[in-house]
Amino acid sequence: MIQSVNPVPAFDIKQQYSTLEAEVSAVVLEILASGRYIGGPVVEGFEKQFAAYHGVTECVACNSGTDALFLSLRALNIGPGDEVITTTFTFIATAEVISAVGAKPIFVDIDTTFNLDLQQVAAAITPKTKAIIPVHLFGQPVDMTALMAIAQSHNLAVIEDCAQSTGATWGDQKVGSIGHIGCFSFYPTKNLGGCGDGGAITTNDPEIASKLRVLRDHGSKVRYIHEEIGVNSRLDAIQAAILEIKLRYLDNWNGQRRAIAAYYHQFLSQVPGIIAPEELAGGVGVWNQYTIRISGEGRNGATAKYRDSVRQQLQERGVSSMVYYPLPLHLQPIYQNLGYQPGQLPVAEQICHEVISLPMFPELTQEQQDQVIYALKDCLG
Ligand SMILES: Cc1ncc(COP(=O)(O)O)c(C=O)c1O
Repeated sequence: MIQSVNPVPAFDIKQQYSTLEAEVSAVVLEILASGRYIGGPVVEGFEKQFAAYHGVTECVACNSGTDALFLSLRALNIGPGDEVITTTFTFIATAEVISAVGAKPIFVDIDTTFNLDLQQVAAAITPKTKAIIPVHLFGQPVDMTALMAIAQSHNLAVIEDCAQSTGATWGDQKVGSIGHIGCFSFYPTKNLGGCGDGGAITTNDPEIASKLRVLRDHGSKVRYIHEEIGVNSRLDAIQAAILEIKLRYLDNWNGQRRAIAAYYHQFLSQVPGIIAPEELAGGVGVWNQYTIRISGEGRNGATAKYRDSVRQQLQERGVSSMVYYPLPLHLQPIYQNLGYQPGQLPVAEQICHEVISLPMFPELTQEQQDQVIYALKDCLG
C-alpha cells in the first residue's frame, strides 16, 4: 500500500477561516455585544450587497438553500396538482421541496455537462407544468439562453438552483439573476460558505420578494398578525456579517478554483480512462466540484464497483475524494411511488457509476494538485 505522507483532503474549510480570523472574530464579537442576533440591519446590509453583486433589485436571506427553494415555490403558489421539471442528477433538496409543497417533480435526464438535457426539458412540459428548476451543478452554468427560451414559450417560471454556483456567469449575467428567482446555499463548503446554515433568494420582482419576506417570517408582515402559513427561516446576524466579509473575497476564491480546474484539466484530460468535465463556451463556471468520470474498460462505461476501487486506490495514495451522486433522484427509494424504472434516464444512471469529485478548494496547493494528478495516473496504470 502506498501511503502518502501528506494526505490531500477533498475539501478544507478551516484554512479559509484562518486567513480571515481577525476580521471574522471582530464582527462576531460586535454582534454578540449588540444583542441583535436575528434579522436586523446587519442582515439587511448583506442582502443589499448580495443583490448588488448579482445585479438584481431584491435579495431575501433565509435559513438554507433548501428553504430558499421551498419558499420560492410557495411564493409562486406552486402546490398540489402542479408539476415542476428538474434534473435527476442533483442533491435531494432540489426535488424534496417540490414534494414538500405538494407538487410533483418531473425528472429529466442530463447530458455530458452533468446539467439538464434541454431537449428533454422541452419534451417533459405538460399543461400541468408550472416551473423549471435548472441546477448549475458543480458550479457549471446551464445554457440559460436556451432554457429561458423554452420557459418563455410555455409561460413557465424558472427557479435557478445556484447552491453550488455562487459567482458563476452565463453570458454577461450572474447565475441567479437570469431566471425569475435564484436560490443560493451558504452551507460551509459552498463557494460562499457561512459558519453554519444559511441561504438567499434573488429576484428582480418586488412582489415575489415581499411575499418571500412574509413567508420566511411566519406569514407575518405586521408582528403577531399572520396572513399565510409561513415558516421560520430567518438568517442570523452573525452569519450575515461573516457572509458579507466573505463576499468580498468570493471572486478571488472562484478565480483560484478556476486555476485549479485548468491545471487538473491540462494533466487529466488526455489520460486514458478519465473523462474530464466539460465547460460550455457561453459560461464561466466556479468549480464547487471538479468531477471526473472514470470511463472503465467495457463498452458500456464503468461500473460503480470499478469506480469505487479507483477511489479506494486514491485513498491509499493519500487522496480523498467524494461521489456526488451515487443514485439519481428518480431511482431513490422515496420516489418509487412516481413509477420511474431503471434505464429510463440512462445518462444520469450511468454517470452515477462513474463520477469522482477530486479535492477542490481555493487553498489547494500546487503540490497537492500534483499529488492528486500523480495518484490518479498511477491508479489507472
Ligand atoms: C444543488 C443543491 N441544491 C440545494 C442544496 C440545499 O442547500 P442547503 O444545504 O443550504 O439547504 C444544496 C446543498 O447542499 C445543493 O447542493
